Amino acid sequence: MNVADTDRMELLLFQSGYLRTLHVEDADMVVVNTCSIREKAEQKVFSLFGGLKSLKQANPDLILGVAGCLAQQEQNILMKRVPHLDFIVGPDAVESIQQIVHRVSQGEGPVVWTEFDSHKNYSIPEQPLIKDSSPSAYVNIIKGCDKFCSFCVVPYTRGREKSREAEEIYAEIRQLVDKGAKEIVLLGQNVNAYGKRGLEQPVAFHELLYGIAEINGVERLRFITSHPMDFTRDLIHAYRDIDILMNHLHLPVQSGSNRILEMMRRSHTVEWYMDLIAQLKSEVPDIALSTDIIVGFPGETRQEFEETLKLMEEVRFNSSYMFSYSPRPNTPALEMVDDIPQEEKQERLQQTIQLQNRLTEENSQKFLGQEVEVLIENVNLRKGMSFKGRNPHYWSVVFKGGEDHLNPGDITRVRVEEVSGHVLRGSWATNRR
Ligand code: 5AD
Ligand code: SF4
Repeated sequence: MNVADTDRMELLLFQSGYLRTLHVEDADMVVVNTCSIREKAEQKVFSLFGGLKSLKQANPDLILGVAGCLAQQEQNILMKRVPHLDFIVGPDAVESIQQIVHRVSQGEGPVVWTEFDSHKNYSIPEQPLIKDSSPSAYVNIIKGCDKFCSFCVVPYTRGREKSREAEEIYAEIRQLVDKGAKEIVLLGQNVNAYGKRGLEQPVAFHELLYGIAEINGVERLRFITSHPMDFTRDLIHAYRDIDILMNHLHLPVQSGSNRILEMMRRSHTVEWYMDLIAQLKSEVPDIALSTDIIVGFPGETRQEFEETLKLMEEVRFNSSYMFSYSPRPNTPALEMVDDIPQEEKQERLQQTIQLQNRLTEENSQKFLGQEVEVLIENVNLRKGMSFKGRNPHYWSVVFKGGEDHLNPGDITRVRVEEVSGHVLRGSWATNRR
């Protein structure tokens, strides 16, 4: 989400005459887009600003801004700890970046813009998008989150759920395809809540997928992230029916213990989740699954933690994003006693990572000796290789050969000769589709 917000700000600033620099020393303006989902990200931001202070001292005209969830949440601390700050922009206000920078360059400062909903949608004034698109492009479809999981800061930093009109989404996708995009990744904190409220033309999430599948030139479609509670049968059918919808689903489960899930306010049980996975696998047998896991939630016993390992083993996820619980401001979980010692949290996290590594390694074996279809995203010249991309199941694929025939954006076939972790390595097979 932050990467997509950064891209959006870059596009708007490009329209105002700015270009991204390779080196921070060359910049007329530095915008640090922050995340505050866990505490560690915050600490990184403060140490980064320590380094930027000297740049501002050397060049007083340098504009220094902070964007993102930390900016939303910690305005006062940022103002105190970063004395040369020119602006703060919240994650729900990235569309205002042009006005903010204009005000700063007129001598106003520091400018703080952290209201929610100051732009109803994500529409960018004065189309068109000027830049080329990468082969795989993000498209925001819904802002904010109404789920209020007890550990999560997002509803407080990004505000309430708000869907974007489908016609506007289709128009952006058509533009991206014209600029070279082959794969569209729909983005939202909770994409399958799309269309539930507030649209002038109501469209359900699965209907949106069917609509996008009609757009010429979209060769692959993905979405992140889903909440199990909003996952409908219609969506399972969409996986079965829409060819370009890739057979990969990221479906966060967070815990394998019903008591912890309840404390997390996830509003579903382990059985509910497993049943959903079973339905999905029966309709789409080769679906690849990934998830998010939190270990060390307040009060999590050793046994409850082991239930999470058991669930992971049963689903056999291809990959997981695994975190140890980190208390966040404003969240209900902050009131719970965070009673698991740091070392124990780390121990549980390591155990989870080890299990996932084993599952990833085992799941990757099935690709050995097989041909996989790859959307080439980049040139990759390291270690005698030529290109890098992803297969439909979202595994990274690095391969050699095809330099004289292929370009980023092409979809081709690769024979897998080696697997290591989440990366498949091989050789160009043919350009037959
Ligand atoms: N502590 C640890 N992990 C968290 N996540 C969200 N909030 C926290 C927190 N307070 C994780 C969840 C979520 C992912 C984006 O980040 O697993 O799905
Ligand atoms: Fe946070 Fe996701 Fe829960 Fe929303 S659904 S509150 S973004 S963890």
